[in-house]
Amino acid sequence: MSFVASPLWNYIPLVLLYFVLKKVFEVFLKRRRLQAAFKDFPGPKPEFFGGNTHQITGDYAGLLRMADYAHEYPGAFPAWTGPAEAQLISVHPGTAKVVLSGTDPKDEFSYALMRPWIGDGLLLSKGKKWDRNRRLMTPAFHADILKNYVIVFSRSTKVLIDKWRKSAGSEEVFHHISLLTLDSMMQCLFGYHSNCQNEKTRHPYIQGVYDVSELIVKRIIKPLHHYDFIYYNFTENGKKFKQACHAIHEHSEKIIKKRKQLLKSEAKGARNVDFLDILLTAKDNDGDGMTDQEIRDEVDTFMFEGHDSTASTISWCLYNLAKHQACQDRCREEILKVVGKTKILSWDDLTKLEYMYACIQESMRLFPAVPNISRCLERDLDLPDGRVIPKDMRITVSLFAVQRDPEVWDNPNEFDPDRFTNGSKISSVYHLPFSIGPRNCIGQHFALTQVKVVICELLRHFKLDLDPERKAEPECILILRSKNGLYLKIKPV
Ligand code: HEM
Repeated sequence: MSFVASPLWNYIPLVLLYFVLKKVFEVFLKRRRLQAAFKDFPGPKPEFFGGNTHQITGDYAGLLRMADYAHEYPGAFPAWTGPAEAQLISVHPGTAKVVLSGTDPKDEFSYALMRPWIGDGLLLSKGKKWDRNRRLMTPAFHADILKNYVIVFSRSTKVLIDKWRKSAGSEEVFHHISLLTLDSMMQCLFGYHSNCQNEKTRHPYIQGVYDVSELIVKRIIKPLHHYDFIYYNFTENGKKFKQACHAIHEHSEKIIKKRKQLLKSEAKGARNVDFLDILLTAKDNDGDGMTDQEIRDEVDTFMFEGHDSTASTISWCLYNLAKHQACQDRCREEILKVVGKTKILSWDDLTKLEYMYACIQESMRLFPAVPNISRCLERDLDLPDGRVIPKDMRITVSLFAVQRDPEVWDNPNEFDPDRFTNGSKISSVYHLPFSIGPRNCIGQHFALTQVKVVICELLRHFKLDLDPERKAEPECILILRSKNGLYLKIKPV
């Protein structure tokens, strides 16, 4: 009997049809469930297959559109990414406040793609593990420890100043600042001197972080690539992603190994305690420390969160000061009055640079380094306007849109640092570049100290202008970057 003629084969089309119909039915049910959940939440009209992906984009036009939707669809609106995939986007301070006041886990759909890179560190972990590790790590960011870092930030900035003195002209600022923040990050948190600012080719770690950030965004917008099997086995990007993660992990492991050896050999109190010491020696109430895997996850998480978001914040602040020359001049006048031209910068000086700080705050309002953050609700959520977001809903808070809310800010798209001067107290519900609530940024004081030191040191030495031939175009690739680089003209003063 021929195998092909076997009666079993006759059933194959039926079996296939069964699975196709089952899938279609599941999609139909899920779509109905989502539509019911969104009944009180009007939003922009989606296409059947593409949903709202043509409207909710990561480029500047897309980010601004999100802010505009805040008027049309107050509070929150649905955004579809397929026939049965959707989430709510929160664009209002009141909604953002209730969402961020809980400890709901991160939305796996948006963040899971980062897992192979930063593992289950503080950013992505949840529940008891997150709670324990957040407590273990908080002492690493105490003011007494941060004060010691001012000199490190100044020294790293000095390396950049020397580089720019030799080449003063038009520079792609984002790249230089990323190297600077990575350099000081590695020193402050891990006591590791990499010389990465002066290496001729791009540091493999920086290259790795750039690559994975871009590859994740490319992956997000291609639904088929969400399947690991397809992504890693059949796409070039999947292979590149694996290689980049490997390079990053290798680097982190090298740093951890070096420190473990040092801790064994050195006398207690021989140097200032840093973040890696805390990770390696921290014990919970049961006397348990972190596993090697946990330590590497935290190292990767802090390396990523610590250098990339700070680099974005500093770069956009320099951009805004280059665009608004009067503000730049006023900052420089203040710096020269408080610190002078050559004095070594101190922790106390930083608190006196009020106008410069106002410019930083205003820049973070208009160009938040982390434009969007997402959660998956573990509970039904009551909104201030009486509507309820059901449990299990994915929700993205657009910090970008919230910080441009026209009901809170006059001329919300204008750069006006005076919003933050003369002791004006602005609620953290309206200005939240570090997020709010229990899962806010653990490194915010560290970051702000570094941003202040770098801006202050650079303005003491250089005048910044926009490069009219190379316009910056903001784009959200996990963090806020510029699509075509961020070029500024640098002249010594
Ligand atoms: C100006 C620079 C920075 C900005 C704008 C920023 C912003 C943020 C935001 C918005 C979040 C919330 C993310 C979410 O909910 O998904 C966050 C979380 C976090 N940030 Fe930062 N960050 C900065 C610098 C830093 C630095 C320097 C570090 C470490 C040294 C750091 C470590 C973290 C960690 C570990 C989390 C997760 C906290 C948790 O879930 O408990 N960040 N950051």
